Amino acid sequence: MKAQDPVQIVEVAPRDGFQAVKPFIPTHTKIAVVEALMEAKYRRLEVGAFVSPKAIPQMADTAKIHAAFAVKCSTRPVRLSTLVPNAIGGQMALDAGVRDLVFVLSASESHNHSNVRRTIAESQEELEIIVAAGRQIDGFQLRVNIATVFDCPYEGRTPEKAVLDIIEHALEMGIPIEFGLCDTTGRGFPDHVAALCGELVYKHKPDTSVAWAFHGHDTYGLGVANALFAYNAGIRIFDAAAAGLGGCPFAPGASGNTASEDLVFTFENMGISTGVDLSKLLDATALIDALPDVDTGGHVRLLPRMRISA
Ligand code: COA
Ligand code: ZN
Repeated sequence: MKAQDPVQIVEVAPRDGFQAVKPFIPTHTKIAVVEALMEAKYRRLEVGAFVSPKAIPQMADTAKIHAAFAVKCSTRPVRLSTLVPNAIGGQMALDAGVRDLVFVLSASESHNHSNVRRTIAESQEELEIIVAAGRQIDGFQLRVNIATVFDCPYEGRTPEKAVLDIIEHALEMGIPIEFGLCDTTGRGFPDHVAALCGELVYKHKPDTSVAWAFHGHDTYGLGVANALFAYNAGIRIFDAAAAGLGGCPFAPGASGNTASEDLVFTFENMGISTGVDLSKLLDATALIDALPDVDTGGHVRLLPRMRISA
């Protein structure tokens, strides 16, 4: 089998996954899941969100999670990021010592309003405040997650211009940015995913300060297909959630993220290295599946282990 460009998988179950779980998961359990995922050799995990505890009560212990890993991770080659929806959250994250921030805004006004109660322009102002603070800090790294890049639960197919405008505004701030192209509803179709990802990667190719990630959901069973089309279009960073957990509480009908184990299984069997230990990842999915009242997804973990080696 011909070896191809490797990919990086960003594990988002501890944020995008847990945020959709209603009963509060005790902090020590969240930490145990993150540890199990780290055993699977991920280089990057999104482990929480500095959001309003009224909006997402499950994320209320994010500072404690980061504190628990601050020492453990100082000598390990792993990056732990956190989601922030506004300038207050950004400052809270920086104050908690987090350097890897994921700012979220949507390409559609209705979803942005439903998710963060701001217009897109207001969210952009919040982003500017975060960047002004982050620039002063050693090690600051920014991901801008653009939600509803392909489809909005309220407005339908997202016009490309809305996405391009957000990217252009963010790049004007003149710092390195990784953009997360988020198929929030899972209703991006492979041809649409390939066209937009390809255009963005190609257009910005010479610029080494810009990186692209694809964040897929598996609502319509298209998660892995969309990731493969994104890969063929030049994307090399993929968000995914162990056990297919997840979903935006402000996107009605959207189900879990593309399951990490489905993505790892597929990429590895195509000769595309992920760096993730599939067997250890499956162990971690069992921990997640055992949590009370979780809505899991994915395919690979349901098969006998002997049928799923990479
Ligand atoms: N973290 C914690 N508290 C926050 C906060 C944050 N990031 N941002 C605002 N607050 C607090 C304010 O201090 C204020 O507190 P008070 O009532 O004690 O004075 C209160 O929340 C209201 O502040 P306001 O700016 O008016 O927020 P809001 O009610 O308009 O909510 C968000 C805006 C962004 C904070 C909220 O919608 C949110 O957290 N959304 C989460 C989105 C999300 O995670 N979606 C899923 C991932 S895509
Ligand atoms: Zn998501």
